[in-house]
Amino acid sequence: MEIKHVMVIGAGQMGGGIAQVCAQAGFDVTLNDISEEAYEKGLGVISKNLSRGVEKSRMTEEDKNAALGRIRKSTDLSDAKDADLIIEAAVEKMEIKQSIFRQLDEHAAEHAILSTNTSALPITEIAAVTKRPGQVIGMHFMNPVPVMKLVEIIRGLATTDETYQAVEDMTKKLSKTPVEVNDYPGFVSNRVLMPMINEAIFTLYEGVATKEAIDDVMKLGMNHPMGPLQLADFIGLDTCLYIMEVLHDGFGDPKYRPCPLLRKYVNAGWLGKKSGRGFYVYE
Ligand code: CAA
Repeated sequence: MEIKHVMVIGAGQMGGGIAQVCAQAGFDVTLNDISEEAYEKGLGVISKNLSRGVEKSRMTEEDKNAALGRIRKSTDLSDAKDADLIIEAAVEKMEIKQSIFRQLDEHAAEHAILSTNTSALPITEIAAVTKRPGQVIGMHFMNPVPVMKLVEIIRGLATTDETYQAVEDMTKKLSKTPVEVNDYPGFVSNRVLMPMINEAIFTLYEGVATKEAIDDVMKLGMNHPMGPLQLADFIGLDTCLYIMEVLHDGFGDPKYRPCPLLRKYVNAGWLGKKSGRGFYVYE
């Protein structure tokens, strides 16, 4: 099956980034959010990112306008009828995702693939509310989407080879590298990344070193582009906590217990860069 038209649900940081890379790669894109305001905000970020690409000579003004011209507005999930592939990037709550998937299943064309950008929720459980579990799959993009090369493609229990192949081919057209994984808590990315971040928070909590020292060890010693505490702020501490809880609940293994300091910061509303304060303070 050839994918030509992509619908992205959610115009936030992840959904906006996904819509941008799809439009740049020549796909027709329907970008959906619950309000016009949310859509306009998302489109504004995409336009700014593309303008920066023009300034940096990565693309021409014509390329930018062509990409923007391929994106159309939607505030209604029934617009899914036109899409070959739908990529859901709404909030990370199972009830909300299942409700969206029920509606998408009703409106989308019979051949359409329904995918989710979830960072940790089980694909199989999302697929189970649809009548097409063979055509449901995870497409986990990394933040910032326009920069990061990986798309972790997650097969649910019922995902067919045909669905997997269509999504892998499409990911390559985005100039990204697809990696195939199976549906277990945290997949591969967050099963490896989040315990590292959580352990960095434990070293801070236990007074082993300052936040700057912990980040310097990992940046200068391991060549990570960001230290784990800075990266946690960038991802969002609420997201980090929720992923640790998914790992803890999913495996029942105490090695995944979230650090009490992480919980405390989230309860205080210190969510990282997006709230202006996490481990570091942002102006
Ligand atoms: N959107 C688009 N482009 C962006 C961007 C964004 N949000 N942020 C940075 N960039 C671009 C910049 O424009 C810049 O491009 P130019 O060189 O053309 O100017 C380039 O990226 C590098 O940016 P900077 O020079 O400002 O800063 P940097 O060298 O520190 O790079 C970074 C920034 C790419 C974010 C880098 O710090 C990095 O790779 N950090 C780690 C990111 C990471 O680990 N992401 C995964 C998070 S986990 C996840 O997403 C999944 C999950 O489920 C939680």
